Amino acid sequence: MMKSGLDDVIAAQTILSDVDGLAGRLVIVGHSLDDLVRTSRFEDVLALLIAAFFPDLDTKTLPRQLGEARADVFALLPAVDPVLAALEPIQALRALLARVGDGDDLRTALRLVAAPGVFTPALIRQRQGLQPIAPDAGLSHAADILRMCHGTSPSEGAVAGLDTYLVTVSDHGLNASTFAARVVASTGAGLGSAAIAALSALKGPLHGGAPGPVLDMVDAIGTPDNAVPWIEAALARGERLMGFGHRIYRVRDPRADALKGAVRELASRGVFSPARIALAEGIEAAALDILRRRKPDRALETNVEFYTALLLDALGFPRETFTCVFAMGRSAGWIAHAREQVASGRLIRPQSQYVGKMPQQAA
Ligand code: ACO
Repeated sequence: MMKSGLDDVIAAQTILSDVDGLAGRLVIVGHSLDDLVRTSRFEDVLALLIAAFFPDLDTKTLPRQLGEARADVFALLPAVDPVLAALEPIQALRALLARVGDGDDLRTALRLVAAPGVFTPALIRQRQGLQPIAPDAGLSHAADILRMCHGTSPSEGAVAGLDTYLVTVSDHGLNASTFAARVVASTGAGLGSAAIAALSALKGPLHGGAPGPVLDMVDAIGTPDNAVPWIEAALARGERLMGFGHRIYRVRDPRADALKGAVRELASRGVFSPARIALAEGIEAAALDILRRRKPDRALETNVEFYTALLLDALGFPRETFTCVFAMGRSAGWIAHAREQVASGRLIRPQSQYVGKMPQQAA
């Protein structure tokens, strides 16, 4: 029996992450997301995700190795041509990712994880008519990304905010982009091909392309008073509210709370305006109330993208690059899943059910 959208189909066994949609719980390699955002940097979670698949990995020196991978990737940049620079950032990132290569080794893996964090700041600066800034291998991934974007030393609060984001989105079960990575990896095509396929899946508005439109919505609503009429009108036009609903979660997405916490933390450090938080919370409350009334049979809750949009905006990323920033964190999960799939040794090759015409029977 065919399952539209492969709902409830188990298509892989993994040691990497577990999404419990009824409990609203995300576990990454044996650790709850709540614990990870309190205790870990992105590099720690990257080590957790990839350690089992790279016996040559020295987890103690991983931050330095990732920094060196950033420098290797930066060396691929000088050949950015005007055609590439004119593309949408996510398309330019996809084209640049192809320069990293297709090996299955640790060096390629770390370069692929580093690449979105190096190419995206360069693309942002290029759009502003500025020269790219070279990485500093001695900094943390989050600190270096912010420095390469803005050209100044980031505040501790901003680094902590980006680190929380990268940890929060590092892996999430068999989401569409991760599944794409596993399908491509299963053919033996290599890690670079798997990452490019994953990035292409992430681009869509039903997956990683939602936070830019979330920010458009927040700006269009403008004041908390305008939330109800604006949302009612959008739903009456048959539109979906970006940042709400999820295929797996039937309760609140735990990542939304992790990121809401990060936004509040930024506000306490003066990086985020309290008025903006009040607007966001007003929109969220109005949306949840209206969605509950309009769709009483379908639990539609806040997903990760709603507070992503507010956090990344506060950190100074232009909205058209939010999906690229998502890839900075999720690339860790893609690489781990791709290697796990290769280790299973099994080509992913489901079947389709033919519902078209059959050839005429010969007389
Ligand atoms: N706003 C309004 N209505 C919605 C929304 C929404 N955000 N999400 C689902 N619905 C409605 C659908 O229109 C559908 O109504 P119908 O039965 O009258 O046709 C019903 O709820 C069920 O929707 P499905 O399509 O079955 O839900 P699905 O599991 O396929 O959708 C998805 C999940 C794609 C995330 C959806 O909720 C959505 O489009 N959300 C907005 C985009 C978004 O925020 N994407 C980011 C997701 S998180 C991530 O991938 C990182």
